[in-house]
Amino acid sequence: MVFKSLWKCRLIKLANFYKKITPLISSITAPSINVIKKGNVPLHVAIIMDGNGRWAQIRNLPRMFGHKRGAEILHEIVIACKDIGIKYLTAFSFSTENWLRPKEEVDGLMSLFVEVLKKELPGLIENNVKLNLIGDKKTIPNSILEVFCDAEEKTKNNSLLILNLAFNYGSRFEIFQAAKKMCQKYYNKFLSNEEIEDISDFNVFSQFLYTKDIPDPDLLIRTSGEFRISNFLLWQIAYTELYFTDILWPDFTRKHFYKAIYSYQKRERRFGRI
Ligand code: FPP
Repeated sequence: MVFKSLWKCRLIKLANFYKKITPLISSITAPSINVIKKGNVPLHVAIIMDGNGRWAQIRNLPRMFGHKRGAEILHEIVIACKDIGIKYLTAFSFSTENWLRPKEEVDGLMSLFVEVLKKELPGLIENNVKLNLIGDKKTIPNSILEVFCDAEEKTKNNSLLILNLAFNYGSRFEIFQAAKKMCQKYYNKFLSNEEIEDISDFNVFSQFLYTKDIPDPDLLIRTSGEFRISNFLLWQIAYTELYFTDILWPDFTRKHFYKAIYSYQKRERRFGRI
């Protein structure tokens, strides 16, 4: 019995050690920035930053340590985007479903968002980065919304990189509210069947999404080995290239990012054509 649990303990230690060194091994084969810049750089990259909790847990740390490190990684990836000329970065930072997490974690995340936004704002202004909140603003607590709105206002004329933070975001709700807004727009307009038929370009509908005026992502990255979309940009990713990696978000470095971009550059996008 003792022998068995000793082995189990050793195996867990080995697995955790393997998880810790995987990011190092994986980053070795990354292409250089010059190679990336010579290729077709995506206009818009979206990221599901997953694995913060697990990263902390395998180090016997509280989950918030993973989120804090995750925020630092986002900072690094914003710089990497600027360096290679990506124009739009959309990061999934808090979903409408994330409110269901234990109160302690939700409170910790809210304090972190406020702290990080305040800390990063001067850098965003200085580096010509525009911050956008995409999500349901109506149900965000006022104290947090104010900080987001302040950052949006102070960066609204910036144009080098557009950083969309998906916060209190859920894609089905986004599509649902867009449908309602479109109905409201045309309500009482007594459109004939022909006039309805004339609304043939579905981009008319896109204008009611939070992402109006933002081109669809070219590449979507999800970290942490999960193969899910988790209610993120369902309308917008119709023809987006998907990239999944086992690396946990707090281990995701600029090199892993370049690797993802390089993988994108080698793909042939056909958009349904041959
Ligand atoms: C998913 O990992 C991550 C989140 C729910 C939060 C992401 C937030 C940050 C990276 C901080 C960013 C800060 C700003 C200001 C934008 P998880 O908790 O689901 O990890 P797990 O799957 O391992 O449990």
